[in-house]
Amino acid sequence: MERKLVILGAQWGDEGKGKIVDLLSENYDMVIRYQGGSNAGHTVIYRDRKVILHLLPTGILHPHVTGVITQGMVVDLEVLDQELNLLKDLGIDYEGRVFISDRAHLVMPYHKVLDRLFERRGGIGTTLRGIGPAYMFKFGRKGIRMSDLEDKNRLRDLLEENFAFVRDLSEKVFGERLEVSVEDTLEKVLRIYERCRDMVTDVSRMIWETDRSMIFEGAQGTMLDVDMGTYPFVTSSNSSALGLANGTGLSPKFFSDAYFLGVAKAYTTRVGGGPFPTELKGSEGDRLRDLGGEYGSTTGRPRRCGWIDLVVLRHAVRVNQIDGLIITKLDVLDSFEEIKVCVAYEYEGERIDYFPASLSVLERCKPVYITLKGWLKNTKGIRDVADLPPRAREYIGIIEEVTGVPVVMLSTGPRREEYAWLKGIQIPGVSYS
Ligand code: GDP
Ligand code: IMO
Ligand code: MG
Repeated sequence: MERKLVILGAQWGDEGKGKIVDLLSENYDMVIRYQGGSNAGHTVIYRDRKVILHLLPTGILHPHVTGVITQGMVVDLEVLDQELNLLKDLGIDYEGRVFISDRAHLVMPYHKVLDRLFERRGGIGTTLRGIGPAYMFKFGRKGIRMSDLEDKNRLRDLLEENFAFVRDLSEKVFGERLEVSVEDTLEKVLRIYERCRDMVTDVSRMIWETDRSMIFEGAQGTMLDVDMGTYPFVTSSNSSALGLANGTGLSPKFFSDAYFLGVAKAYTTRVGGGPFPTELKGSEGDRLRDLGGEYGSTTGRPRRCGWIDLVVLRHAVRVNQIDGLIITKLDVLDSFEEIKVCVAYEYEGERIDYFPASLSVLERCKPVYITLKGWLKNTKGIRDVADLPPRAREYIGIIEEVTGVPVVMLSTGPRREEYAWLKGIQIPGVSYS
């Protein structure tokens, strides 16, 4: 029987999805990225080396795994080329194991120019990877897809049309000369395409027809989802479970027998602008950042840090219908004497337990905290829940009680082997050792 596992971020990204997907890939045949692009940065410790993947599915580091990039993603061929070279450097043979949708849209150099120009006025704090503009072109029906690379003349026409528009925008609106040209872009794109041409296929059909087991690897997180996140401070794709059907080109029915895992940090971080009710701006925030090594995997920017927000997690549980949570980076809290947990917001004297849509309402929401004594014991590398300090168990218990779903696994360090299963829940195909 097919086995399907969905792994997605329950906060604002960087929850440790990469580590978890890498760990669980051992039990699965295919790992599928279905939205976003190289704005993602998924970290894995591979043979003592820190490896960050932006575009390729994390499972590709396992020699038995087939990695799939679906049409919901936007693909930057330069990044793809770099990542394939990285695999070569690591001595990983990827021949015949990577597939890219022929319907996937491309991130072009001019999308990155536009991302930078828009940021000058918008201030979202994007990763500058051209993601927003690439999706704008896609939905504005001006995008260029992998399948367009087969026809050089058609590609040139499409590029010329795009360039005329981008040049006007850049020069007339932003007063900046466009430094990239049609011919350079054409040559560069086709040169890289030659090297990955055999990977391009109808992956939607491939996923539909196979009886192999699969992990769907989400990028970003629920609160960065363009519809259900903190709009406009979001990414330009559906980074919650909402992106699964349109991202793969398969009906929502296809996912009805999947197991949905939400990954959340034991505290909260976000990079870039936007609301963050439990943010700690002073020395406590700095302490979390230092202890957690909270610097962006894609941009190196310091991440904003704060206490865990269970209003956010409850929102993520509902939007994604999460079956179980994985709490990562528990070890980062080991030295805190007091730990706060946000269980609701107070808005104009009323207690609310849902995440509001309006930014002006959010601005006036104050977190309602319960304060716990820290466990002040080492949890780093713990493999057995029996070794967990009682106060750490209590902390996990509160998360379960408020979100209404079980915490099935803890991650207790960045390495593959640093985890503990908490519940005997039967995730299809996963053994609990
Ligand atoms: P992703 O985008 O969700 O894959 O997360 P990132 O890779 O951007 O950021 C997570 C960071 O935390 C990486 O540096 C990981 O190596 C690290 N990490 C993951 N799990 C743990 C954990 O349980 N404990 C600690 N201390 N670090 C972790
Ligand atoms: P992973 O998969 C954290 C954030 C950016 C910015 C907003 C929009 O590693 O969890 P974009 O470049 O997508 O237009 O930026 O989204 N962002 C992420 N934050 N982790 C990510 O990916 C992110 N991808 C985008 O910082 O606030
Ligand atoms: Mg990341």
